[in-house]
Amino acid sequence: MCGIVGYTGYRDAYNVVVNGLKRLEYRGYDSAGIVLEGENQKFNLKKIKGKVSNLEAISEGLKNTSHIGMGHTRWATHGVPSDRNSHPHLSNNGKIALIHNGIIENYDSIKIMLKGKGYVFHSDTDTEVLANFIQYFMEEIGKSFYEAIRAALNEVYGAYAICVMHEDEPGSFVVARLSSPLAIGLGDKEYFVASDASPFVEFTKEAIYLEDGHMAHISVENGVKIHQIKDNSAVDPQIQELKLSLEQIEKGGYEHFMLKEIFEQPKSIHDTMRGRILLDEGVIKMAGIWDNLERIQKAKRIIIIACGTSWHAGLIGEYLIEEFARIPVEVEYASEFRYRNPIITSDDVVIAISQSGETADTMAAIKLAKEKGAFVYGICNVIDSSISRITDAGSYTHAGPEIGVASTKAFTAQLTVLSLIALKIGKHNGSLNNTEFMQYLYELNAIPSKVQDVLESSHDIVKQIAKDFIDATNFIYLGRGYNFPGALEGALKLKEISYIHAEGYPAAEMKHGPIALIDENMPVAIIAPKQGHYDKVVSNVQEIKARKGKVIAIVNQGDTQVASMADYVIEFPETSECFSPILSAIPLQLLSYYIAVYRGANVDQPRNLAKSVTVE
Ligand code: M6R
Repeated sequence: MCGIVGYTGYRDAYNVVVNGLKRLEYRGYDSAGIVLEGENQKFNLKKIKGKVSNLEAISEGLKNTSHIGMGHTRWATHGVPSDRNSHPHLSNNGKIALIHNGIIENYDSIKIMLKGKGYVFHSDTDTEVLANFIQYFMEEIGKSFYEAIRAALNEVYGAYAICVMHEDEPGSFVVARLSSPLAIGLGDKEYFVASDASPFVEFTKEAIYLEDGHMAHISVENGVKIHQIKDNSAVDPQIQELKLSLEQIEKGGYEHFMLKEIFEQPKSIHDTMRGRILLDEGVIKMAGIWDNLERIQKAKRIIIIACGTSWHAGLIGEYLIEEFARIPVEVEYASEFRYRNPIITSDDVVIAISQSGETADTMAAIKLAKEKGAFVYGICNVIDSSISRITDAGSYTHAGPEIGVASTKAFTAQLTVLSLIALKIGKHNGSLNNTEFMQYLYELNAIPSKVQDVLESSHDIVKQIAKDFIDATNFIYLGRGYNFPGALEGALKLKEISYIHAEGYPAAEMKHGPIALIDENMPVAIIAPKQGHYDKVVSNVQEIKARKGKVIAIVNQGDTQVASMADYVIEFPETSECFSPILSAIPLQLLSYYIAVYRGANVDQPRNLAKSVTVE
């Protein structure tokens, strides 16, 4: 959470930083700020509550005034969203400017110490404490700017990606990282820093992803010098070639990123399968699984850890792996797993699922699992993200950059990878015979075109249906078997972008409590594919209709039984039950998208949320 951008070179720093911040707004949009090195080396600083557009409105005058500067877009942790809590923060002497993504957990004790020495604070943030802590090491201990940053960082704990400038050190900045991402873009006589590569993708294809515990001094004159924060030993930079393109991170004619990403799913699922499903040879090729097959096959248990939508994918992964590979699976919220002293042994395989690859709760759970000797397999979308680097092996989802805060194409790509993994292990350990394996493989291979089909056939219908639910205050989502997690995901999508309260339940659980909520005002979206305990779902629909609930049925094409009872019908093509959550997710994503749009909500940047949750 929070996005940071820095630039030094020959371009207009204002332009690079502000445009970069717009690309990082998915990380938080509570406030925005910029600082540039002005004439006579004095800082020019502007910051304001709200979005980057608010910042632009108050900082026009900074255009074309500097070739070095940095900016921040905030997701509030310490202190409410406000002008005074916005970054950059200055030290008391006004000479140090600092932007920060993360949390300094021991900021309070440092603040008390600094207050005792006469420092005053103008914000409620942990970041301002760090800026003053650096000043303290310079003034009271006599350290250089760089050494003062190093000394301060060796005293703090928590998570940070920071960029720091000093008025007396013109033309340079210092960056550092611990558990929050930071990329350095390498141009010709220019350098960029950012929370991810999107702010500089049109300027350079070469980047260094700073490792945990590393800091870098960056200037056009001396380039990028990386050292360990702990002992200042020099580090050889690993330069990587960026695969990201500008087109991938633009809206491409769609009104919102979310809609673009929903419509990209035939391609993103296809990209996730590409090179992995070899129909002619009758194999699934996945190097991460193949290289570790012994260990994975022998696992006494697989534990899936994830958060949010990725956790929902994990629940479906449990069904897939248990059905096809016959290995027991447990699915845990990463945040709970870490804090409940779980029993983990070296016989366990942990699968960590994360779109961003930066989620702090998932990272912490992985570290714990590794400490206890488990083998950890990552399923990430963002290439070279922190999770993809700390796991023992893994598979990328290849969905392409997902910018909308509500996860859509990453979810269906995660389901695709989990399906491939389950089928591959099942084939190798003999739980699936070749005929079954091939049937499923053909079925999975057909999913991208079926996704295209459901997008085309349901789009207009869903748009119409959404209009009737603009004023809904509650929603229930139901599904059975593989589609129970699909119901949870449908409810989460609606909650996060339209702010309508929604709950997902296994359809059969209705009668154990939630049925009390059903009346003529309660919309109930029920996923009822032909292959998924259909008769039981028919009974559930009858129970809802008997209590006058409004049923939105998500059924297979040509369905008559559920469709005849439902108030609204959305169809999707038939497939095996195990792959049906991929198809049923599509109309549910569209439904929440259009309800939110009609309610005037900001679907790409819903309130209080951020795309990448890098705080615990
Ligand atoms: O990047 P991750 O997959 O680790 O993120 C996990 C959740 O924060 C994420 O899925 C969140 O729930 C989304 N906003 C859901 O749309």
